Amino acid sequence: MKFFLIIFLVIFSVTFCQTKDWPFANDGIFNPPTYYERLRLSEAVSTRPFYQWYYYAVSDYDLGVEFAMSIGVSKSSESGSKKNEGVYIMFCLVDPKNDKTFEKFEKYPLDDLSFSHDFDISVDNQKFGIHPITNNSYKIWGTLNDPQHIWYSTGNSSDLDISWSLNIQRIYGWYGQQDIESLAYIWGIIDWNTYSHDSLVSGVVTIGSKQYTLSPNSRIYCDMNWGDYFPVGPTKEFAWGWYKVLLPGKTPAEDVSIIAGSGVTSNLTLFDTMGGYFADVELGKLGKREGYRLAEGWVTTPDPIVLLATASNGVFKNFSVERTNWFNYSDDLGQAQIPLTQYVYIASDTLQVSMTFQSTPELYNRLLFPQEDYIFSDFEAFGVTCHIVITSTNGTTKTLIDEVIDDAGLEFGYKIPVHF
Ligand SMILES: *[C@@H]1O[C@H](CO)[C@@H](O)[C@H](O)[C@H]1NC(C)=O
Ligand SMILES: *[C@@H]1O[C@H](CO)[C@@H](O)[C@H](O)[C@H]1NC(C)=O
Ligand SMILES: *[C@@H]1O[C@H](CO)[C@@H](O)[C@H](O)[C@H]1NC(C)=O
Ligand SMILES: *[C@@H]1O[C@H](CO)[C@@H](O)[C@H](O)[C@H]1NC(C)=O
Ligand SMILES: *[C@@H]1O[C@H](CO)[C@@H](O)[C@H](O)[C@H]1NC(C)=O
Ligand SMILES: *[C@@H]1O[C@H](CO)[C@@H](O)[C@H](O)[C@H]1NC(C)=O
Repeated sequence: MKFFLIIFLVIFSVTFCQTKDWPFANDGIFNPPTYYERLRLSEAVSTRPFYQWYYYAVSDYDLGVEFAMSIGVSKSSESGSKKNEGVYIMFCLVDPKNDKTFEKFEKYPLDDLSFSHDFDISVDNQKFGIHPITNNSYKIWGTLNDPQHIWYSTGNSSDLDISWSLNIQRIYGWYGQQDIESLAYIWGIIDWNTYSHDSLVSGVVTIGSKQYTLSPNSRIYCDMNWGDYFPVGPTKEFAWGWYKVLLPGKTPAEDVSIIAGSGVTSNLTLFDTMGGYFADVELGKLGKREGYRLAEGWVTTPDPIVLLATASNGVFKNFSVERTNWFNYSDDLGQAQIPLTQYVYIASDTLQVSMTFQSTPELYNRLLFPQEDYIFSDFEAFGVTCHIVITSTNGTTKTLIDEVIDDAGLEFGYKIPVHF
């Protein structure tokens, strides 16, 4: 079976994939309607574990502070251990100026979750929630104040009451997997929808006695993930990467928002290794955008079979992630290695994006994603320095953007032993 499918894929790849897009669309969905944001709990395969979460990251460019929060569900397979099953609410802070970083989680039983209308979600009777108002606007809220429900916390945040109530208005969003969602479903690999990766936000975040009223110069990043299994493999390169660069414009329509993600996992049916790479590049002030998508699988190294390689307005050329400057990270959950420097290069024949991220250990939180029988670690940093260069090659080569910012975000996530 495997053999014939591989033959098919090789023939398919050679015959049809000169531009590597047929039979797929050349782009994802720009500003996806709420249907694509739906909670897929009822679509989960009962013999496998399932997770899904909604994640938000607020950048207040006047305060220089980052807050992130998420509502996540972890459901075990029918026969699996129910130890990690539940609803997890996470909040984290990165405040580089005051040298402060922490995260705090509360856990609730799955029965405390209710939902309707795609992603109108309530946990513990509206204590936490998400409410889509239109396809382009949402409300989120929550209060972490119950010691009985604390699941994990760092930086002395266990005693801090934390709450948020935010109104969100989408500027740019993109879902790059609408036409491969069923393939991801077959393998149970992780999906990713950046449905509102650049959005206006207003409201209040309260941490202990400190109240932050978000300044008009704030933005919120909204995404969601779901799947059955996390990336796994024999080395630390079997990991996911996440990269966020935002240059607020004079008006929201002039924002430059770049969101990129990669994931590499091993031992799927057909492929020993598989990689997926997705990015949306919105250059509001230049009136350009490009979505990039790449999925490839290795049966034997070094040459992959390219399954999908598209660019929305041109020919896909490259999507590469390089990680260096490894640091031995250590906390109460154990040891890990994280790359303090990451270089991301994405190219079509008309638009090239190069991003060099330089981080320091104090900017990281280890976010945790509990699954049936393990906890996945995701090292997330904000306030990261990034040199971004964007060039266009349409006849002549032209530099469109060449800037260094100190408020980029990134993640490096992989499966390592967690002593919980
Ligand atoms: C959201 O978009 C969908 C698809 O375009 C449309 O059918 C629906 O009416 C929209 N919903 C609202 C509340 O505007
Ligand atoms: C937590 O509080 C203790 C006691 O006040 C203090 O020594 C420690 O530095 C604090 N830890 C963090 C990470 O803020
Ligand atoms: C796949 O699984 C086999 C057998 O468990 C193992 O030997 C091999 O190293 C795995 N491959 C990868 C890339 O993890
Ligand atoms: C893609 O870009 C990386 C980084 O610049 C480079 O090392 C690699 O050779 C490129 N790959 C292709 C196929 O051009
Ligand atoms: C990090 O840990 C690894 C494995 O334990 C070790 O080989 C390496 O020397 C350490 N690196 C640094 C910079 O301490
Ligand atoms: C490339 O240049 C041509 C001629 O100036 C123009 O019509 C076209 O829109 C440009 N394409 C892109 C992707 O910028």
